[in-house]
Amino acid sequence: MAALALPFPVVVLVFSPTTEHLAIASDDGSIRIYQKPYTKVWKALRNLGPEISSVAFALDSSSTSFPLWVACGQHILCFELACDSLILERKDCIFESRVTEEAEDILNQITINKSYLAYTLDSGIVGTLDLKTKEQKTMKTSHSNLCTNVSFIPNRPREMVSTGYDFNILHHDFPLGTILSSFQVGEIVSIYIMLHLIHPTESPAEPASQISLSPPFIQCLTMSSNGVIACGLADGRIWIGFGGERSLAHRKKRRKWDGLRKDNASYVQVADGPVVDVFVFTLSLSKPSRDIDKVLRAFVNSDILVTLSLLGTLTAFQILEGKLDKKLSSHTVKGILKANSLATNGTDVWVGGISSKNQGIAVSLSLETLQKETEQ
Ligand SMILES: *[C@@H]1O[C@H](CO)[C@@H](O)[C@H](O)[C@H]1NC(C)=O
Ligand SMILES: *[C@@H]1O[C@H](CO)[C@@H](O)[C@H](O)[C@H]1NC(C)=O
Ligand SMILES: *[C@@H]1O[C@H](CO)[C@@H](O)[C@H](O)[C@H]1NC(C)=O
Ligand SMILES: *[C@@H]1O[C@H](CO)[C@@H](O)[C@H](O)[C@H]1NC(C)=O
Repeated sequence: MAALALPFPVVVLVFSPTTEHLAIASDDGSIRIYQKPYTKVWKALRNLGPEISSVAFALDSSSTSFPLWVACGQHILCFELACDSLILERKDCIFESRVTEEAEDILNQITINKSYLAYTLDSGIVGTLDLKTKEQKTMKTSHSNLCTNVSFIPNRPREMVSTGYDFNILHHDFPLGTILSSFQVGEIVSIYIMLHLIHPTESPAEPASQISLSPPFIQCLTMSSNGVIACGLADGRIWIGFGGERSLAHRKKRRKWDGLRKDNASYVQVADGPVVDVFVFTLSLSKPSRDIDKVLRAFVNSDILVTLSLLGTLTAFQILEGKLDKKLSSHTVKGILKANSLATNGTDVWVGGISSKNQGIAVSLSLETLQKETEQ
């Protein structure tokens, strides 16, 4: 376990998918870039503005081109890290685009596939930026409340999903800007009744705990490399959809991704408070490094879903054959007052947030630790 102390609260942390860099953004408008083993800052960006909400590494980084994309207030910025400077400022950005004209509107998440960047806004709008032509496009259907997250769908070059505080998951054909499917997450009570009708013999575990005060705002979103979708909700549940999973059962390629099908999805209560981040390790398919093969041997064909709660508890579940099979472990990260973000490099999970001293903190835990079953 490693820990980094930062002077200001951590807003978001993210690993480069192609290099081994870790970027940590703080709420003072700075981003620190670390190299393995993540003890010293390699480069820093500062004075970007107080509202950094998201950071994304380009997927085609090399030693001569290493772009870092940043969502800051109403602007998407791009910085070239393959340069001599150790400290970059806002004026050093190589690209800048304002994506909203509404006074109160700000960016939430940005995410990148090879040639496109997708972004979400408080106004509910979801858009894309073509990284080659720099052409911007907004989806025809937006969320009726703030749009939190967006994800491209692996192996589906035209498709992406977005989530929001309107409880909706929207599935877009992004070159056309049209909707392909959608799903609305429900309140706990109605779900409970539904389950009860389906399985009348199963009595609720603890009826009192089923009554939630927070509406199921969708706080976070992840997609596994084989098409499983998971969303974390403000009421402590996750919604997980297997309908789009590429598995033996779905060998025939479907016309479109089917991940929002109701009959292949379920809710699971994972925390008492909001779920702020979620991630699925697809151990059977992705091999980011040799190290992971060791982990793999014990868990052939199973995915691990990891959730992070606002109070800093990481919970790991095993996914087997299209079902959330069992809870593996639960670890509360020490020294975190409020957790904001989770990132992984394939072998470790890093959690970022606010420390008990009201400063920034980033703590790592190995996936191996999370996989070990702890007594419930
Ligand atoms: C999802 O959206 C929320 C709200 O805007 C944000 O705090 C969180 O960092 C986003 N998740 C990712 C992975 O960017
Ligand atoms: C990203 O989207 C573009 C445009 O649809 C597509 O050509 C490309 O294959 C996608 N890349 C990935 C990694 O999904
Ligand atoms: C998905 O739902 C369909 C219809 O209910 C069912 O036949 C199928 O077995 C389900 N698939 C999985 C992986 O649960
Ligand atoms: C992931 O990060 C940890 C530090 O948290 C490091 O020890 C490990 O080697 C990294 N794994 C890979 C595959 O780079």
